[in-house]
Amino acid sequence: MSTPALSVERVVAVIGAGAMGSGIAQVAAAAGHPVKLLDARAGAAEKAVDGIRVQFAKLVDKGRMSTEAAAAAGARLSAVDALAGLADAALVVEAIVESLDAKQQLFRELESLVASDCILATNTSSISITAIGAALQRPERLAGLHFFNPAPLMALVEVVSGLATAREVADALFATAAAWGKSPVHAKSTPGFIVNRVARPYYAEALRLLQEGAADVATLDALMREAGGFRMGPFELMDMIGHDVNFAVTRSVWTAFFHDQRFLPSLIQQELVDAGFLGRKSGRGFHDYREGAARAQPSSEAARALSAVPCVHGDSAAAQALSARLDAAGVRHERDAGIDGHNSGHNHGRTNGHTNGRIATVGGATLFVTDGRSATQRAAETSTPGVVLIDLALDYASASRIGIAAARQCPEPALHAAIALLQAAGLQVSLLNDVPGLAVMRTVAMLANEAADAVHQGVCSADGADAAMKLGVNYPLGPLAWAERVGVDAVRQVLVHLGAAYGEDRYRVSPRIQQAFFAKGSLHD
Ligand code: NAI
Repeated sequence: MSTPALSVERVVAVIGAGAMGSGIAQVAAAAGHPVKLLDARAGAAEKAVDGIRVQFAKLVDKGRMSTEAAAAAGARLSAVDALAGLADAALVVEAIVESLDAKQQLFRELESLVASDCILATNTSSISITAIGAALQRPERLAGLHFFNPAPLMALVEVVSGLATAREVADALFATAAAWGKSPVHAKSTPGFIVNRVARPYYAEALRLLQEGAADVATLDALMREAGGFRMGPFELMDMIGHDVNFAVTRSVWTAFFHDQRFLPSLIQQELVDAGFLGRKSGRGFHDYREGAARAQPSSEAARALSAVPCVHGDSAAAQALSARLDAAGVRHERDAGIDGHNSGHNHGRTNGHTNGRIATVGGATLFVTDGRSATQRAAETSTPGVVLIDLALDYASASRIGIAAARQCPEPALHAAIALLQAAGLQVSLLNDVPGLAVMRTVAMLANEAADAVHQGVCSADGADAAMKLGVNYPLGPLAWAERVGVDAVRQVLVHLGAAYGEDRYRVSPRIQQAFFAKGSLHD
């Protein structure tokens, strides 16, 4: 029998009435619990209660809550000014300052005060649940209940088990979060839990691409949005989070993993922090938010005329979409079922819709989807001077922009023909310097690699990793589902080539991806 959720008559206590504590108290009160809010700062809890009631009133105005429900939920909230006032709580959620000492001290005091069956939860986003629990006489009743900001809007809750956490406690929190309308995911207490670990490559690869001069900030942001389907580009997202906060999270995950190169912080971001260019909140980060500042625009190639008849090869997702887009635009082109130069009709190298084969030829250019080698390397290794690489798109049929890179050996007219072809298909084209793996492909491969490692190491399930990234940071697809869509073999190939190109341990392939590749299986099995 599954563990039931905490029944709604039971009192929920929230300690820390800041941004997170207020949001959590709002969620619990809306779900029907009497909620007691406490803060060390005089008057802060009362103010938070008033603020939550204002939020309920706004929901009534928007037609998302009835007047009666808002009044009842508002009445269930109360401010408390001493820990003793929380003695009748069945669940305490702590959302105080992010300090191990402060949290340990608070839970130690609480332990002697609350009933023996009271569940203790912490909203920490970076401190080990195991370490907090070590201060308790009964660490089995402590778990992480990690909400995302703003808690009333974000569906994800990571239910984090420390080494000593009892399974029933994690299960009760999971059921309770679900009853509160959230989408909980179980996680083991490891650095960054799920989201703050698996999301690291989204920032890290972008910072590396910038450092290597792949493209400017506005162009990389635009590619991740318009080709990758991410809601925000990595640089504008870091600007919004604040570089102090984002850099601190990266450092803490990197340090906690004993300086694993996977999580290496970026000198570029350190410079921003040192300069006080913290992002939106300080008026300046990667982008300029000061009054009157012009927003930097992504660079797009100037329009080129298509002067040769292109040929689209094979039936990969990219080739099919390219052909359909050309048809829709009334652009005459040839179709060739083969991909390797033989018009054989066989699906050579086909991998779940992506392929290592060429997808189009036009005017001396041969277009491939990146496999993690630079265009220059690929041109040399395939004796094809006119190599033009195409980045990954979430959906080649609907993308509005695509990143490309050309081999150094590629004649200029051939590059121009490739650009003209993609423009004729209705795409804005951003020409990157010839970095291995381009932007979207490299990022998605590394996100999938990290998610695969988290699953491989027992931090969470494959479905949990995917759900966490979609719900916690709004990714358009879970990283593992995305890797399967691209093709496990294609993603592995990109990682292997990145590893070879950089000679760094950073790009080592997760054993879970290796296993799925060799077994021709799924990352979700
Ligand atoms: P905040 O600074 O907005 O609020 C913290 C509140 O706790 C303050 O009102 C402070 O007066 C109070 N406080 C500090 N020490 C206390 C104590 N010993 N007893 C009672 N009250 C105390 O901080 P925020 O952003 O709400 O974060 C709270 C916790 O939630 C931290 O552990 C943080 O890591 C975590 N978290 C924060 C997220 C965010 O995006 N801000 C997201 C998820 C988790």
